[in-house]
Amino acid sequence: MKLVIAADPAELALTVAQAVAAFIRANPGRLLSLAAGDTPLAALRELVSMQQRGEVDLNSVGYVGLDEWGGLGPADPGSCIEVMNRHFYHPAGIRPENLCVFNGLAADPEADAAAVLELVARRGPLGLTLLGIGMNGHLGFNEPGTSPDFIGGVVTLDDVTREVGRKYFAGRTPGGTGITLGLGTLGRADRILLMATGEKKRAILTRIAASPDDPALPASHFVNHPAATWYLDRAAAPDTV
Ligand code: PGA
Repeated sequence: MKLVIAADPAELALTVAQAVAAFIRANPGRLLSLAAGDTPLAALRELVSMQQRGEVDLNSVGYVGLDEWGGLGPADPGSCIEVMNRHFYHPAGIRPENLCVFNGLAADPEADAAAVLELVARRGPLGLTLLGIGMNGHLGFNEPGTSPDFIGGVVTLDDVTREVGRKYFAGRTPGGTGITLGLGTLGRADRILLMATGEKKRAILTRIAASPDDPALPASHFVNHPAATWYLDRAAAPDTV
């Protein structure tokens, strides 16, 4: 498990943003997938600041959405695309031709997901993905039990994901489905950055670190992945490290 441990969330955000910016500078034209959860937001905002200082051109790469809640779109506060638009795509001025995301409002979500996955297959593999680790060990909406070979698509959400997800929707419980890039697609990225902060993530991180390739813990498939680096703050770091 390749670990980078920072003193606190602010230092971690800076470290992650610098790693992502270095990748972007070295790899123009590649495809990135950046998670929309609370954890990576400070790093995404730091990337926007770096661009404003002329340190990176965020339009020199393409972006593919990691996931989306079924039935929600850009006008729904808390949807993945709304969060990413607000904190990253809009302030960074990402041009539409550099962006491809799942449409939670699609009449045929399977066909919409297939089109996104087809773009990743054509332009990919992913250059870099930045992922947050869920309270149940999920990545994107790769829920407990997901096969490491799953390329992505429409999934049934785990109860923990729906319960935790209420924080994004003013206490309302999100619906039962999600759309996600799969572990198989994420696992082919040149660089996989897994991020977690805070005491509340320490127990799941401790379980993940102790159980590589446990089907019940999707993130555990990346414990020994050669492209994966785990970026944790001290509070989230497993008891064993
Ligand atoms: P969080 O979510 O960053 O809001 O903790 C991570 C996740 O559940 O994917």
